[in-house]
Amino acid sequence: MASEESRPLLGTNVEAELHAERPSQLEVYLSKVQNQNLYLATFAAVLGPLSFGFVLGYSSPAIPSLRRGNVPELRLKDSQASWFGSVVTLGAAAGGILGGYLVDKCGRKLSLMLCAIPYVFGFATIISAQNVWMLYVGRLLNGLASGVTSLVVPVYISEVAHSKVRGMLGSCVQLMVVIGILGAYVAGMGLEWRWLAVWCSIPPCFMLGLMAFMPETPRFLLSRHQRPEAIAALQFLRGPLVDHEWECRETEAHTEEQQELKIAEFKNPSIYKPFLIGVAMMFFQQVSGINAIMFYAETIFEEAKFKNSSAASVIVGSIQVFFTALAALIIDRTGRKILLVISGLIMAASAAVFGIYFKIALPTPNNFTHVNLAIPSLSVMVGTEQHPLAWLAVLSLGLFIMGFALGWGPIPWLVMSEIFPLRARGVASGACVLTNWFMAFLVTKEFHDLMVLLTPYGTFWLFSVTCLLNVVFTVFCVPETRGKSLEEIEAHFQRTH
Ligand code: BGC
Repeated sequence: MASEESRPLLGTNVEAELHAERPSQLEVYLSKVQNQNLYLATFAAVLGPLSFGFVLGYSSPAIPSLRRGNVPELRLKDSQASWFGSVVTLGAAAGGILGGYLVDKCGRKLSLMLCAIPYVFGFATIISAQNVWMLYVGRLLNGLASGVTSLVVPVYISEVAHSKVRGMLGSCVQLMVVIGILGAYVAGMGLEWRWLAVWCSIPPCFMLGLMAFMPETPRFLLSRHQRPEAIAALQFLRGPLVDHEWECRETEAHTEEQQELKIAEFKNPSIYKPFLIGVAMMFFQQVSGINAIMFYAETIFEEAKFKNSSAASVIVGSIQVFFTALAALIIDRTGRKILLVISGLIMAASAAVFGIYFKIALPTPNNFTHVNLAIPSLSVMVGTEQHPLAWLAVLSLGLFIMGFALGWGPIPWLVMSEIFPLRARGVASGACVLTNWFMAFLVTKEFHDLMVLLTPYGTFWLFSVTCLLNVVFTVFCVPETRGKSLEEIEAHFQRTH
């Protein structure tokens, strides 16, 4: 096996070595695998991210609908509307902690099924809301469910998949999130907020029903010494033609001796290295400014004189769906790192252009500070007339969203599910989810203050710089996990200290 000398985080020599060492048995095994049931199990699981996309997309059409509605107690003021949108991220951060606990204690499958409860109760609370607090509680429950889902589903998929399709299936998590966001926007064009909440509660019900018939992951079963159940799960997931015993033994070789993770083990590079990489990826995903820019989208399209700003949201949602699907299709061929680099560069360039637009379009800096909105309105800032360069804002916004969808959207979630050793998976993924959602909360909540402090162009140039840092971080720190089994990735981190 590999020598003990220290190596770069994931040098090409290691990669080549891993491929050369790969037993041809793996190729033989993979050539006989039948994927239908694996796709079915993935489909059942990604109904979770679909539900959380619905939760994320819900507030955009629901807020105007609530304001137009005939219940005076529910006509949200600006600050209430901003909380209605952002309280989800706080619930989801808490969901990260809960999810990290559940996924190890109850298993991947049961944790996922349990998510359906706060989803449905959350929407039921919103549907029956008599006052603003009931709306907040409903959103908080929805957020909690979203946080648990965003942890459990990537872990479930990476553990049932095999290395040939793990990237594609793992990327379906983000694909379903953006389809959910788009689904909520489209339905919101025709449904008022209550019926929209009824519509959004359908996917978690389906997830609950379908997941009941799917297996627990073989890795989790083996870690609990439930070998016959693990073999049965592999028979379901890989079809009858392969040697299930062989895959079981391969996985077992790494899971047999595993005990509960102790805090002191965080001194061990095979634990803290992937931990830091995972948490940093989530941090970088959010400081790219994606949620602030998505929040801003409608205003930008309004400024460019798009008659129907909800149609503009649908356009943004469609760009995300298209390019996330493209990333899912190519990721197992291109690898993760190259897509992250391309994505970061596109985002950095488009955020810089966006900043230039603001610099040119804003006659006097800081003339927006009096605007009492969560985010200063672009039309207030640049006047009610369409600026001749409005197309530049729309173009750079479209490019930014495209760049995000190609890499920094799906890949942090995928890598999170791949790099942690099995016994650290719950705790470490919990820390990632917590970081992601807490940063999402901070960025969306503090965006206004940042615009006042740094001016709008300064803010977008700052996002541009953070996107460049994402690229530098990717090049030096992110391991390439394409084509490797989860056990090979674990072994890699064990060897690189
Ligand atoms: C991010 C969310 C974001 C969503 C948008 C996810 O990967 O974690 O913060 O709102 O993508 O598509």
